Amino acid sequence: MKNSLKKLNSFGVECFCNEIYIIKSYENYLQIKQNLKGKNIIILGAGTNILFKTQNLDYTILKVDIEGIKIIEDNDENIIVSVGAGLNWDDFVSWCVKNNYGGVENLTFIPGNVGSAPIQNIGAYGSEIKDVIYSCEGFYLDSSEQKIFNKDECEFEYRSSIFKQKLKNKFLISRVNFRLSKKNHRINTSYKALSDKLIEKQIKEPKISNISSLVKEIREKKLPNYTQLGNAGSFFKNPVLKKKNFEKIFNKYSTIPFYKMSKNEYKLPAAWLIEKCGFKDICENQVGVYKNQSLVIINKGGATGLDIYNFSQKIKQEVKNKFDILLEEEVNII
Ligand code: EPU
Repeated sequence: MKNSLKKLNSFGVECFCNEIYIIKSYENYLQIKQNLKGKNIIILGAGTNILFKTQNLDYTILKVDIEGIKIIEDNDENIIVSVGAGLNWDDFVSWCVKNNYGGVENLTFIPGNVGSAPIQNIGAYGSEIKDVIYSCEGFYLDSSEQKIFNKDECEFEYRSSIFKQKLKNKFLISRVNFRLSKKNHRINTSYKALSDKLIEKQIKEPKISNISSLVKEIREKKLPNYTQLGNAGSFFKNPVLKKKNFEKIFNKYSTIPFYKMSKNEYKLPAAWLIEKCGFKDICENQVGVYKNQSLVIINKGGATGLDIYNFSQKIKQEVKNKFDILLEEEVNII
């Protein structure tokens, strides 16, 4: 019998796979492992960063549903907590904010589960999850060998890690261990949208809880809620250009916003590039870009995965033609 993945992906597209196993623990995996021999596997979290391009997937899905928060170490300054991969990310953030543990407040309201967050090194409003990760633990699907990756071994990069690269669908993250501050919090207000909000609200010495609620406010305005409008957040990464290539574009489009990353590297907002290619307010086969954020592709209802994919490739082609920049997908496409 075919299993529908419609409710398991935030684009809300219909898709069928061969089997779905819910993984609640390592022991649980060992029990079902023999059934997986020779099968193509996809490890799925909350399905908020994936596009199922085809309607029939010759795949078996392992849906990670490992719960629980355990305190591993607790001193005056810091706390190390071990969090089950299946916990909702924002529930974990709320727990931290409530307890006044610092480090994840800028990442408030990001959809998805805890276990998927390090895979793409989630980031927003000047913070990345790598800043608070102590280690990631889990097991290799093939050998069942358990391993703890310390932070350096995770090979974190902008929206990437070893788990999204060579270990993709090979290593299942069961728990993520975070080091959070208990005092002397490093409140990060570097992102302009956030510092503007603090001025607007006249908050001079923001607390963790202030940051969290302001980030929530900003995100609610800019990003669509996938339970109402199918989407997977930013569809593409923001491209990073070498100085020489950046200057070529800047000479032509002097209003382009940019972020200087190093002497020779400039990050450009993909949303701006997409907008300049005329994709705002365009809708094809029930697919479009979101009115408040052009980097977000939306399913206006009834679009297929292929419709969304085709639209994304059209955007990619137009950006290539106009700016000679090849956008790279942030969303996993299967
Ligand atoms: N911009 C436009 N048009 C738009 C939206 C933005 O031109 O419709 C330009 C503006 O100049 C703006 C700049 O793009 O100043 C940056 O926009 P924004 O602050 O919204 O951030 P972003 O670069 O589009 C990134 C992350 C988001 C994250 C925000 C906030 C990536 C791929 N995306 O978006 O992450 O929430 O910054 O920190 O890095 C995600 O990964 O799914 C995600 C939503």
